[in-house]
This record gives sequence, C-alpha cells and structure tokens, in this order.
Amino acid sequence: MRTLRSGLVAAVAAAMFVGCAVAQSQDKQGADRAPAPDRPRRAQSAHDKAVQEFIDRAPLPKDDDEKKILAVLDDMYRNQRKGMMNIQLEDGRFLRLITEAVNAKHVVEIGTSNGYSGIWFCLALRKTGGKLTTHEIDEGRAALARKNFARAGVDKRVTLVMGDAHQEVLKLKEPIDVLFLDADKPGYIDYLNKLLPLVRPGGLILAHNTSNLGQAMKSYLDAVTKNPDLETLFVHRHDQGIGVTLKKR
Ligand SMILES: C[S@@+](CC[C@H](N)C(=O)[O-])C[C@H]1O[C@@H](n2cnc3c(N)ncnc32)[C@H](O)[C@@H]1O
Repeated sequence: MRTLRSGLVAAVAAAMFVGCAVAQSQDKQGADRAPAPDRPRRAQSAHDKAVQEFIDRAPLPKDDDEKKILAVLDDMYRNQRKGMMNIQLEDGRFLRLITEAVNAKHVVEIGTSNGYSGIWFCLALRKTGGKLTTHEIDEGRAALARKNFARAGVDKRVTLVMGDAHQEVLKLKEPIDVLFLDADKPGYIDYLNKLLPLVRPGGLILAHNTSNLGQAMKSYLDAVTKNPDLETLFVHRHDQGIGVTLKKR
C-alpha cells in the first residue's frame, strides 16, 4: 500500500515537473520526432532554456519490446495524427508513467481513436501484467486501432469495445485501477457517475482536455473538486491539460 501511494506521489510530482516545462519542447522534439500540431508557445524563461535539452530528450527503451512499441508510437505520431485527435506525446508519457507507478491491472479508456493513448497505457501494462478495456464509437478509427495494437504487439492486452460508451460501460463489472476519459467532453460527468463505483480505492480517474476544453466539462470538474472522497489536481495545464483524480482509500 505504502509503495503504491509513494509511487503515485512520485509519479504526479514528476509529471508536474515535466508538465511545467515541456510546453516549449513539443515543437522541437528533434529530427527523430514528429512535430506537434499547431499550438501556441509561451515565452521561454532563462530557466526553461537552461533545461530545454533535458526536456527534449526522447524516452529511452529499456528492452527490445519497449523499443518496438516506441517505434510504433513514433510512427503514429508522425503519420497518423490527422483527424485522430490524439493526446500529445508528453501526455502519453505521463499516462505510461502513472499507470506503471500505481501498478494498474485494469485500465479503462473512453475514446480509443487509432489507439495512440492506448498503446502508451500498454507500455505500462506489459510490466504490471494488466489489461486495457477501451471504448470507441467510430468503426474506421477502431479498425485502425486494432491494426496499431497488433503491430505494437499489445493486442492480447486490449479489449476494444465498439459502440456508444455511455451504454457499453454499464456492462463493465471488474474493478478499475485507472479510468481515462478522452471522448465527448460533456459526457465526462455521465462516465464518472457510471464508473466511479468500479474505481478501486486508491485508483485514478484521468480526464483529458481539462485546460483547453474545460468549459465543456464543467459539471465533471465540479463533481471531482467538490467530493471529499476524491482528491483532484490538474497537470499539463500549459497545454490540453489532464485532471488527475484520486479515489481516496
Ligand atoms: C479525442 S479522441 C481519443 C483520442 C485517443 N484517446 C488518443 O489519444 O489516441 C475521442 C474519441 O472518442 C470517440 N467517441 C466520442 N464519443 C464517444 C462515445 N459516446 N462512445 C465511444 N467513443 C466515443 C471518438 O470517435 C474519438 O475517436
């Protein structure tokens, strides 16, 4: 328990550090990284400039398996982003880091798209022995996701549920360690209401786009910041933003 909690604290602290600094890095990921989609860059402070080279460093594979998965993610980042509404690279790194840190066995994702964020989760799940249940309503994106999961070699860890997630999540029965919301923004509150009972104490709810699309999910933001059973903070606020909510033990 203590390991889990300290892992979570370390993960969030690390993410906040990265999140505060990487805003400027996304557009200059180096020749081996695809450029980020258009987005504003704030002025760099002297401090930012001093640490930029560290921030820009790509994730380093520890083994051949990780190397293969990172290569697929890099290819998707370069060549498949158009129309896929994928998370940013640093958000993917955050999802992997926090999922591995809390030793998640079951991640539920709402909004698969082509599987980009899902593969980041799988980078962690192959080490925790866990699995991903991911929901998508669009057949075309789901078909692409299946191909991407297969070529990354993570398809056996993934259950892709087709259909309207507002209905499909009602069929979920197993406890959830990490819930990732990244589909229709006004629907976040409905997903929360339906799935919070399944999130285990000590589990996390991660909500994407809390910075750039927060207006569309106000009821969700209200719910996760007013409930004493939950602790919520916001990371990567410089960009799309991720709400990180702990379901207290
Ligand atoms: C922002 S994209 C997800 C991006 C993905 N998480 C990633 O970073 O790779 C949102 C996805 O949610 C899907 N979606 C929207 N409403 C949905 C619903 N009610 N049920 C299931 N999927 C839905 C969309 O078709 C779209 O592919």
